Amino acid sequence: MEQEILDSPDSVAERACQLILSAAANAIARRGLFRLVLAGGTTPAACYRRLADAAATWQHWHLFFGDERCLDPDDPDRNSTMVATALTGRVAIPGRQIHPIPAERGAEIAARDYEQTLAGALPFDLVLLGLGEDGHTASLFPGHVHPPGRLVVPVHDAPKPPPDRVSLSAAALGECRELIFLVTGAGKQAAVRQWQSGQACIASGIQTSGTSRLLMDSAAAGSQATPAD
Ligand code: 6PG
Repeated sequence: MEQEILDSPDSVAERACQLILSAAANAIARRGLFRLVLAGGTTPAACYRRLADAAATWQHWHLFFGDERCLDPDDPDRNSTMVATALTGRVAIPGRQIHPIPAERGAEIAARDYEQTLAGALPFDLVLLGLGEDGHTASLFPGHVHPPGRLVVPVHDAPKPPPDRVSLSAAALGECRELIFLVTGAGKQAAVRQWQSGQACIASGIQTSGTSRLLMDSAAAGSQATPAD
Protein backbone atom coordinates (compact mmCIF):
# COMPACT_ATOMS: atom_id res chain seq x y z
CA MET A 1 0.00 0.00 0.00
CA GLU A 2 1.60 3.25 -1.16
CA GLN A 3 0.81 6.07 1.24
CA GLU A 4 0.80 9.82 0.69
CA ILE A 5 0.18 12.36 3.44
CA LEU A 6 -0.92 15.70 2.03
CA ASP A 7 -1.44 18.92 3.88
CA SER A 8 -5.18 19.43 3.39
CA PRO A 9 -8.40 17.85 2.10
CA ASP A 10 -8.06 20.03 -1.01
CA SER A 11 -4.58 18.63 -1.66
CA VAL A 12 -5.96 15.10 -1.31
CA ALA A 13 -8.77 15.93 -3.76
CA GLU A 14 -6.33 17.45 -6.25
CA ARG A 15 -3.89 14.52 -6.03
CA ALA A 16 -6.72 12.01 -6.41
CA CYS A 17 -8.08 13.91 -9.41
CA GLN A 18 -4.68 13.79 -11.12
CA LEU A 19 -4.27 10.06 -10.42
CA ILE A 20 -7.76 9.33 -11.78
CA LEU A 21 -7.13 11.34 -14.96
CA SER A 22 -3.83 9.53 -15.45
CA ALA A 23 -5.43 6.13 -14.94
CA ALA A 24 -8.17 7.07 -17.39
CA ALA A 25 -5.73 8.18 -20.09
CA ASN A 26 -3.76 4.96 -19.64
CA ALA A 27 -6.81 2.68 -19.71
CA ILE A 28 -8.34 4.41 -22.72
CA ALA A 29 -5.05 4.29 -24.64
CA ARG A 30 -4.67 0.56 -23.93
CA ARG A 31 -8.25 -0.71 -23.97
CA GLY A 32 -10.41 2.05 -25.35
CA LEU A 33 -12.40 2.59 -22.17
CA PHE A 34 -12.04 3.47 -18.47
CA ARG A 35 -14.01 1.58 -15.81
CA LEU A 36 -14.10 3.56 -12.56
CA VAL A 37 -15.80 2.62 -9.29
CA LEU A 38 -16.84 5.69 -7.32
CA ALA A 39 -16.70 6.06 -3.56
CA GLY A 40 -19.67 7.47 -1.66
CA GLY A 41 -19.88 9.63 1.43
CA THR A 42 -18.66 13.22 1.52
CA THR A 43 -14.86 13.02 1.21
CA PRO A 44 -14.67 12.31 -2.53
CA ALA A 45 -17.05 15.13 -3.60
CA ALA A 46 -14.20 17.69 -3.79
CA CYS A 47 -12.26 15.31 -6.06
CA TYR A 48 -15.31 14.75 -8.28
CA ARG A 49 -15.83 18.51 -8.62
CA ARG A 50 -12.22 18.88 -9.77
CA LEU A 51 -12.70 16.05 -12.26
CA ALA A 52 -15.73 17.87 -13.68
CA ASP A 53 -13.53 20.92 -14.30
CA ALA A 54 -10.90 18.82 -16.10
CA ALA A 55 -10.60 17.97 -19.79
CA ALA A 56 -11.16 14.26 -20.38
CA THR A 57 -12.50 12.04 -23.15
CA TRP A 58 -15.67 11.43 -21.16
CA GLN A 59 -17.21 9.35 -23.94
CA HIS A 60 -14.88 6.52 -22.93
CA TRP A 61 -15.66 6.64 -19.20
CA HIS A 62 -17.84 3.97 -17.55
CA LEU A 63 -18.88 4.70 -13.95
CA PHE A 64 -19.89 2.20 -11.28
CA PHE A 65 -20.62 2.67 -7.59
CA GLY A 66 -18.91 0.96 -4.67
CA ASP A 67 -22.06 1.16 -2.60
CA GLU A 68 -25.44 2.84 -2.31
CA ARG A 69 -27.96 3.61 0.36
CA CYS A 70 -31.45 2.12 0.06
CA LEU A 71 -33.19 5.44 -0.54
CA ASP A 72 -35.28 6.85 -3.38
CA PRO A 73 -33.25 7.64 -6.50
CA ASP A 74 -33.60 11.40 -6.01
CA ASP A 75 -32.95 11.37 -2.26
CA PRO A 76 -30.29 13.98 -1.38
CA ASP A 77 -28.55 11.38 0.81
CA ARG A 78 -27.97 8.96 -2.05
CA ASN A 79 -24.39 8.55 -3.19
CA SER A 80 -25.71 8.77 -6.74
CA THR A 81 -27.12 12.23 -5.93
CA MET A 82 -23.75 13.41 -4.59
CA VAL A 83 -22.03 12.11 -7.74
CA ALA A 84 -24.60 13.70 -10.05
CA THR A 85 -24.20 17.07 -8.34
CA ALA A 86 -20.39 16.98 -8.26
CA LEU A 87 -19.60 15.20 -11.52
CA THR A 88 -22.05 13.44 -13.84
CA GLY A 89 -24.44 16.36 -14.06
CA ARG A 90 -21.53 18.47 -15.36
CA VAL A 91 -19.70 16.26 -17.86
CA ALA A 92 -20.71 14.43 -21.05
CA ILE A 93 -20.41 10.80 -19.92
CA PRO A 94 -23.12 8.94 -21.89
CA GLY A 95 -25.99 8.00 -19.59
CA ARG A 96 -25.79 4.34 -20.63
CA GLN A 97 -22.24 4.33 -19.23
CA ILE A 98 -23.26 5.52 -15.76
CA HIS A 99 -24.35 2.56 -13.62
CA PRO A 100 -26.05 3.57 -10.36
CA ILE A 101 -26.93 0.78 -7.95
CA PRO A 102 -30.76 0.42 -8.01
CA ALA A 103 -30.87 0.42 -4.19
CA GLU A 104 -34.44 1.74 -4.23
CA ARG A 105 -35.48 -1.82 -5.14
CA GLY A 106 -34.41 -3.03 -1.70
CA ALA A 107 -31.04 -4.46 -0.71
CA GLU A 108 -31.51 -8.08 -1.84
CA ILE A 109 -33.01 -7.40 -5.25
CA ALA A 110 -30.62 -4.51 -5.93
CA ALA A 111 -27.59 -6.62 -5.01
CA ARG A 112 -28.69 -9.38 -7.35
CA ASP A 113 -29.50 -6.96 -10.17
CA TYR A 114 -26.20 -5.10 -9.80
CA GLU A 115 -24.27 -8.36 -10.05
CA GLN A 116 -25.78 -8.65 -13.53
CA THR A 117 -24.63 -5.10 -14.28
CA LEU A 118 -21.07 -5.97 -13.22
CA ALA A 119 -20.92 -9.09 -15.40
CA GLY A 120 -18.24 -8.36 -17.98
CA ALA A 121 -17.07 -5.20 -16.21
CA LEU A 122 -14.28 -6.79 -14.17
CA PRO A 123 -11.51 -6.05 -13.60
CA PHE A 124 -12.14 -2.38 -12.93
CA ASP A 125 -9.41 0.04 -13.93
CA LEU A 126 -9.68 2.06 -10.74
CA VAL A 127 -11.64 1.70 -7.49
CA LEU A 128 -12.07 4.67 -5.17
CA LEU A 129 -12.95 4.08 -1.52
CA GLY A 130 -13.44 6.12 1.61
CA LEU A 131 -12.91 5.02 5.20
CA GLY A 132 -15.40 5.41 8.00
CA GLU A 133 -14.45 6.35 11.57
CA ASP A 134 -15.27 2.76 12.59
CA GLY A 135 -13.08 1.39 9.82
CA HIS A 136 -15.84 0.53 7.36
CA THR A 137 -15.40 1.11 3.66
CA ALA A 138 -18.06 1.17 0.98
CA SER A 139 -20.92 -0.36 3.00
CA LEU A 140 -18.82 -3.18 4.45
CA PHE A 141 -19.00 -2.71 8.21
CA PRO A 142 -16.98 -4.30 11.03
CA GLY A 143 -18.74 -7.34 12.49
CA HIS A 144 -20.98 -7.86 9.46
CA VAL A 145 -20.75 -11.24 7.76
CA HIS A 146 -21.54 -11.58 4.08
CA PRO A 147 -22.11 -14.70 1.97
CA PRO A 148 -18.92 -15.73 0.16
CA GLY A 149 -18.70 -15.74 -3.60
CA ARG A 150 -20.81 -12.64 -4.11
CA LEU A 151 -19.79 -9.57 -6.13
CA VAL A 152 -22.51 -7.43 -4.56
CA VAL A 153 -24.05 -7.91 -1.11
CA PRO A 154 -27.17 -6.64 0.65
CA VAL A 155 -26.46 -4.81 3.92
CA HIS A 156 -28.87 -4.42 6.85
CA ASP A 157 -28.46 -2.82 10.29
CA ALA A 158 -25.66 -0.60 9.04
CA PRO A 159 -24.39 1.51 11.98
CA LYS A 160 -24.12 4.48 9.62
CA PRO A 161 -27.62 5.48 8.47
CA PRO A 162 -29.49 4.43 6.51
CA PRO A 163 -29.49 0.89 7.86
CA ASP A 164 -30.24 -0.77 4.52
CA ARG A 165 -27.58 -0.52 1.85
CA VAL A 166 -26.00 -2.34 -1.07
CA SER A 167 -22.25 -2.80 -1.36
CA LEU A 168 -19.72 -4.33 -3.66
CA SER A 169 -18.02 -7.15 -1.77
CA ALA A 170 -14.39 -6.99 -0.69
CA ALA A 171 -13.60 -9.47 -3.46
CA ALA A 172 -15.26 -7.31 -6.11
CA LEU A 173 -13.62 -4.12 -4.84
CA GLY A 174 -10.23 -5.82 -5.09
CA GLU A 175 -10.83 -6.82 -8.72
CA CYS A 176 -9.07 -3.77 -10.07
CA ARG A 177 -5.84 -2.50 -11.56
CA GLU A 178 -5.64 0.31 -9.05
CA LEU A 179 -7.21 1.01 -5.68
CA ILE A 180 -7.20 4.44 -4.03
CA PHE A 181 -8.46 5.20 -0.53
CA LEU A 182 -9.30 8.86 0.16
CA VAL A 183 -9.19 9.63 3.87
CA THR A 184 -9.34 13.08 5.47
CA GLY A 185 -10.06 14.56 8.88
CA ALA A 186 -8.92 13.87 12.43
CA GLY A 187 -12.00 11.69 12.97
CA LYS A 188 -10.38 8.99 10.85
CA GLN A 189 -7.14 8.81 12.85
CA ALA A 190 -8.17 5.79 14.94
CA ALA A 191 -9.33 3.83 11.89
CA VAL A 192 -6.10 4.66 10.04
CA ARG A 193 -4.00 3.70 13.07
CA GLN A 194 -5.80 0.38 13.43
CA TRP A 195 -5.32 -0.33 9.74
CA GLN A 196 -1.65 0.54 9.80
CA SER A 197 -1.03 -1.44 12.99
CA GLY A 198 -1.61 -4.57 10.95
CA GLN A 199 -4.76 -5.48 12.86
CA ALA A 200 -7.33 -7.19 10.64
CA CYS A 201 -9.86 -4.63 9.43
CA ILE A 202 -12.26 -4.12 6.57
CA ALA A 203 -9.82 -2.02 4.54
CA SER A 204 -6.98 -4.54 4.88
CA GLY A 205 -9.37 -7.21 3.65
CA ILE A 206 -9.56 -5.55 0.25
CA GLN A 207 -6.64 -6.99 -1.67
CA THR A 208 -5.77 -6.17 -5.25
CA SER A 209 -3.08 -7.61 -7.51
CA GLY A 210 -2.70 -4.05 -8.82
CA THR A 211 -1.55 -0.84 -7.18
CA SER A 212 -3.12 0.30 -3.92
CA ARG A 213 -2.71 3.77 -2.46
CA LEU A 214 -3.80 5.56 0.66
CA LEU A 215 -4.16 9.31 0.17
CA MET A 216 -4.77 11.15 3.42
CA ASP A 217 -4.38 14.57 4.87
CA SER A 218 -2.21 15.32 7.91
CA ALA A 219 -5.31 15.49 10.12
CA ALA A 220 -6.18 11.87 9.37
CA ALA A 221 -2.54 10.82 9.57
CA GLY A 222 -2.21 12.19 13.10
CA SER A 223 1.34 12.21 14.43
CA GLN A 224 2.81 10.40 11.41
CA ALA A 225 5.39 11.75 9.00
CA THR A 226 5.03 15.27 7.66
CA PRO A 227 2.93 15.84 4.49
CA ALA A 228 4.49 14.98 1.14
CA ASP A 229 6.18 17.97 -0.49
C1 6PG B 1 -21.33 5.81 2.41
C2 6PG B 1 -19.92 5.61 1.92
C3 6PG B 1 -19.02 5.29 3.06
C4 6PG B 1 -18.04 6.43 3.18
C5 6PG B 1 -17.39 6.44 4.53
C6 6PG B 1 -16.65 7.77 4.71
O1 6PG B 1 -22.28 5.43 1.72
O2 6PG B 1 -21.45 6.37 3.49
O3 6PG B 1 -19.82 4.76 0.92
O4 6PG B 1 -18.31 4.10 2.96
O5 6PG B 1 -17.06 6.31 2.17
O6 6PG B 1 -18.41 6.33 5.53
O7 6PG B 1 -17.60 8.80 4.65
P1 6PG B 1 -17.14 10.33 4.62
O8 6PG B 1 -16.35 10.51 3.35
O9 6PG B 1 -18.44 11.11 4.58
O10 6PG B 1 -16.31 10.57 5.84
